Amino acid sequence: MAHGRNAKMKVLVTGADGFIGSHLVEMLMKSGFQVTALAQYNSFNSWGWLEDIENKKDLNIVSGDIRDQFFCEKISKNIDFIFHLAALIAIPHSYISPGSYIDTNVIGTLNICQSAMKNNIERILITSTSEVYGSAQYTPIDEKHPLQAQSPYSASKIASDAIAMSFYNSFELPLTIARPFNTYGPRQSARAVIPSIISQILYGKKEIKIGDTTPTRDFSYVEDTCRGFTELINNKNTIGETVNIGSNFEISIFETLKKIKTIMNSDVEFVEDQSRLRPKNSEVYRLWCDNSKIKKLTGFEPKINIDLGLKKTIDWISVPENLIKYKADIYNV
Ligand SMILES: NC(=O)c1ccc[n+]([C@@H]2O[C@H](COP(=O)([O-])OP(=O)(O)OC[C@H]3O[C@@H](n4cnc5c(N)ncnc54)[C@H](O)[C@@H]3O)[C@@H](O)[C@H]2O)c1
Repeated sequence: MAHGRNAKMKVLVTGADGFIGSHLVEMLMKSGFQVTALAQYNSFNSWGWLEDIENKKDLNIVSGDIRDQFFCEKISKNIDFIFHLAALIAIPHSYISPGSYIDTNVIGTLNICQSAMKNNIERILITSTSEVYGSAQYTPIDEKHPLQAQSPYSASKIASDAIAMSFYNSFELPLTIARPFNTYGPRQSARAVIPSIISQILYGKKEIKIGDTTPTRDFSYVEDTCRGFTELINNKNTIGETVNIGSNFEISIFETLKKIKTIMNSDVEFVEDQSRLRPKNSEVYRLWCDNSKIKKLTGFEPKINIDLGLKKTIDWISVPENLIKYKADIYNV
């Protein structure tokens, strides 16, 4: 992104306290944007992963909740671009608390779209997920693939995408729906398989409990996903479009774990734990991204392959002050 123009641009990032959001904030700040970062309100005054970023003092951090329309309208004033990432994202947790996924992911997106309209926002990026596709009916998965609600999380994101697209169709709200495939890297929570396995190996476990390792995924390193977001929002051809972000490289969970073991020089054993298996119709067996649309529209190319990305992630989690944030004895959902 060019520095000159960005210096004047004001950007709001929701979900900025989270894994991907905190990296996006860092990237936007480096490019010269003036960033307002939304952290979810809590009584501990914690800004989540924003606590760990450099130059926090140059950031406008606001605490609040996207479920509140009044609040969303207030923080969107005098903003040029909105990156909307805030969401509840854990699939197992969505089995036990589906209503909260509707409140946050659907009503939250509605509130952001309404606020963007009221405040004449120039560009909005809505974050979807490859989970909306469910198990691949054909591969690689392009944006025309049917949507299958295999979990309440997926259903809430399908609804979020639909409400956003309805605002483009009905009111010409200048938005793009970014649909990232599985993203990994520093700061990802231990509910995800890659950081969970790395942290358990680092804590010296000899046996690690694991769910089904046969499903395949298309992993993107977090910096590639964030660059995909910025390239989409900076390009007028993406308005009103839904666009995949992924690596176009399919790998099974089993092969991913093998790579982690090799890089870490570990002899850990993996043991299948029945309680971690997802209900059969809910498990997404195959995800493989067709990323030709984003390439064609923006020239985007993923830069960090899985081996390098895993190495960078392992290096980061290995730092003691990072590792201590991972609770290896708990099954995080
Ligand atoms: N991580 C992935 O592999 C992946 C893949 C595809 C899409 N996504 C999407 O990317 C986005 C970011 O995901 P992430 O992996 O960084 O997850 P994350 O859980 O680390 O970040 C989400 C953030 O949203 C915030 N949030 C939740 N409810 C809120 C509320 N009511 N008000 C304000 N903030 C609230 C949380 O504080 C959290 O920090 C999500 O929309 C997710 O669906 C993630």
